Amino acid sequence: MKGLILSGGKGTRLRPITYTSAKQLVPVANKPVLFRVIEEICNAGIDDIGIIVGGDTAPEIQAMVGDGSRWGVKITFIHQAQPLGLAHAVKTAQGFLGEERFVMFLGDNVIQGGIHELVRQFADSAWNAQIVLKEVENPQSFGVAELSDGRIVRLVEKPREPKSNLALVGIYMFDANIFEAVDHIAPSWRGELEITDAIQYLVEKNYKVYPYVHKGWWIDTGKMEDMLAANSLVLDELAPRVEGYVDRDSQLSGKVIIEPGAEIINSVIRGPAIIGEHCRIVNSYVGPFTSIYHHTVVDSSEIEHSIVLENCRIVAIPDRIEDSLIGRSVEITRSPIKPKAYKLVLGDHSKVGIL
Ligand code: TTP
Repeated sequence: MKGLILSGGKGTRLRPITYTSAKQLVPVANKPVLFRVIEEICNAGIDDIGIIVGGDTAPEIQAMVGDGSRWGVKITFIHQAQPLGLAHAVKTAQGFLGEERFVMFLGDNVIQGGIHELVRQFADSAWNAQIVLKEVENPQSFGVAELSDGRIVRLVEKPREPKSNLALVGIYMFDANIFEAVDHIAPSWRGELEITDAIQYLVEKNYKVYPYVHKGWWIDTGKMEDMLAANSLVLDELAPRVEGYVDRDSQLSGKVIIEPGAEIINSVIRGPAIIGEHCRIVNSYVGPFTSIYHHTVVDSSEIEHSIVLENCRIVAIPDRIEDSLIGRSVEITRSPIKPKAYKLVLGDHSKVGIL
């Protein structure tokens, strides 16, 4: 089997982060989401992986991922000229996929417990497609599958009266018949070739489309709140380790990871939390569900339930920072210059909550 990861797209819901970087490269518990996806596919025994990349973010993704040798796999980048939908991405990858069965994974999704079991099930079957589903409390907000005799018989996008609570997760397994399906569907109202329409085509043509109901958590990190939720869930599963320096006046409690070269000086770190390489946390409090990425300084400040990317400076902030996603090389400091005022340099679509 081959692997196909979708890492193009527009990422409008994660602006302004996505103005300058790919959302798939935002670190969750200090590891880019896309690297987690690659690892899941490797762990399922697949060593030939294609990654769909789009216009602006392609060079950055290629540079960060490389040729796959770090994971012992072969990685092929496939350019999608425009983000015209998940089914369009599949079509774009036809040359790479050929006649092989494949697992398709959205590059901004995080799943608990890996995918080896479901990949094995599909690899051993004669099914044409297998779709990963998850029980959700609010099926009205998802693409929902209706089942009969163990098979998927219908997919409905955001149904008003859902016939099941089984939502489509961003993981799909197909054989080459999916290309016939993509060739027969038309763009939806939002101008995209929808993967749900392609699967519906397979169902209607009596191809064998089966579900796989995933039991653990699954998160689509497309929005800020979901990125923070994924960060919390992943942090909670990591084993604590201290590879940096923690002085005697500091206190670590719960699951805390201190990466090499980080320094914790007169501070309290309450896990689950991770402090990245060469960070300096001084006279500060870092609270639960927080990831601080490499080379960031937090001085005389408090932060909780947040993700901070690399090379930031957060200094002398009097009130606690919470529920925040802070991009690369951001400075949050106090201004000693009169007149006393908030002084902001914010990109388009930034959001600031001031007390
Ligand atoms: P989405 O999150 O559905 O779309 P998006 O990335 O354009 O984001 P937004 O809705 O906020 O503008 O995409 C899911 C994944 O699939 C994501 O990793 C991007 C990828 N993708 C492609 O590779 N090609 C595409 O044509 C689309 C629509 C998405």
